[in-house]
Amino acid sequence: MLYEEKEKDIEDNKNNNQSNETKINNNTLNKNIITFPENYDLTQIENMNNYLDIYQPTFKNNFELIEYLDSGSTGIVYKGKSKTKGNNQQYAFKFCIKLSKEKRNIRNNYHEIYYQKKLHHINISEILAFYKIEDKSYFSVSEFGKFGNLDNFLHNFLKRRFLSESFINYLSKPILESLYYMHRKKLYHMDVKKGNLVLDVEMNPKLIDFSSCISFEKYTPEQEIQLSKIGTGRYMAPELLNHEKIEVKYGDKIDVYSFGITIYNLAFGTYPYQLNSVQSNDYDKILEKLKEEPLEIPNNVEVSNMFKDFLKKVLELDYKKRYSIKDALEDPWIKGWNIIANEKDNTGIQENFIIRLISDNIPKFNQYIK
Ligand SMILES: Nc1ncnc2c1ncn2[C@@H]1O[C@H](COP(=O)(O)OP(=O)(O)O)[C@@H](O)[C@H]1O
Ligand SMILES: [Mg+2]
Repeated sequence: MLYEEKEKDIEDNKNNNQSNETKINNNTLNKNIITFPENYDLTQIENMNNYLDIYQPTFKNNFELIEYLDSGSTGIVYKGKSKTKGNNQQYAFKFCIKLSKEKRNIRNNYHEIYYQKKLHHINISEILAFYKIEDKSYFSVSEFGKFGNLDNFLHNFLKRRFLSESFINYLSKPILESLYYMHRKKLYHMDVKKGNLVLDVEMNPKLIDFSSCISFEKYTPEQEIQLSKIGTGRYMAPELLNHEKIEVKYGDKIDVYSFGITIYNLAFGTYPYQLNSVQSNDYDKILEKLKEEPLEIPNNVEVSNMFKDFLKKVLELDYKKRYSIKDALEDPWIKGWNIIANEKDNTGIQENFIIRLISDNIPKFNQYIK
């Protein structure tokens, strides 16, 4: 796979791009520290292009940004394409910038890139290029999920609050496999959720966003580590919320729990333990609810008993009793009931298959199929 690492001397850029610099200054961008004032809207593609003209001109020789896609807590993401590859292959471009000392949104120097670079799996968005821009800001180019994250997919394409059990089943095995792959490399995602899973044009789920990823490489399985609160409140396992010390061999259970919340939410359109009403960063309240409320499987949607049992095992609060990734992959709901996925293997991606799979109106779906 193509991998480029391009670092550009900022001083050099400044000297060589006077005219563009003026353009940005007109938009009140502070050129020296590369921080953006409130009114500098980076969701406007022209603004980003101006910025790149100055700080990373080599980028434009290789890639072209097409449109703004989405923003998360660390990055602004665009859709774009390669200029050099001679095809119309699309990519996701994630721009992460250090905003200011108070509003620091890069947790660690490039560690997202460092980990993502090590991952090569069909269900993980592969990083193809990386452009460092000034102190702690960067631009990464990764495999693109044409249908967006699972939240976008639900709201923009299906116009529904939840997915069918069969579709969740179809997604679950590859997601678990991608986590199993990461865990074998002693890498833990730590922020598995709907917003960090995208669907590509062939409806393969792909894990994205390695900004919370941690490595247990340095530890032996019996060694204890102190967990700190990383991830997204409602998806965080109780041992994380509790700030517990756990043996490294149980580390994979944190991602299992978040995966469990993800599929619970996909199935019922809600969070367990009455967490809908709790602020996502109110960790104490979330922990309280986990202790107080029973795990209820809602009855707004009919699901199989196999699925209910599976949910209980991946959402077990006691991490020692909770399924490991391997246990989850061995569960009958995952192992035995993958008819739809197998059908896809035989027939390839076809409109009929998708339409049957989702069994609902999919507005404007045709234009997205290859
Ligand atoms: N490879 C990709 N394909 C499609 N959409 C993506 C891709 N990467 C990111 N996005 C979109 O951008 C959003 C934010 O990206 P993410 O990497 O999760 O950043 P953050 O760390 O800020 O959460 C995602 O939720 C998704 O909607
Ligand atoms: Mg994210």
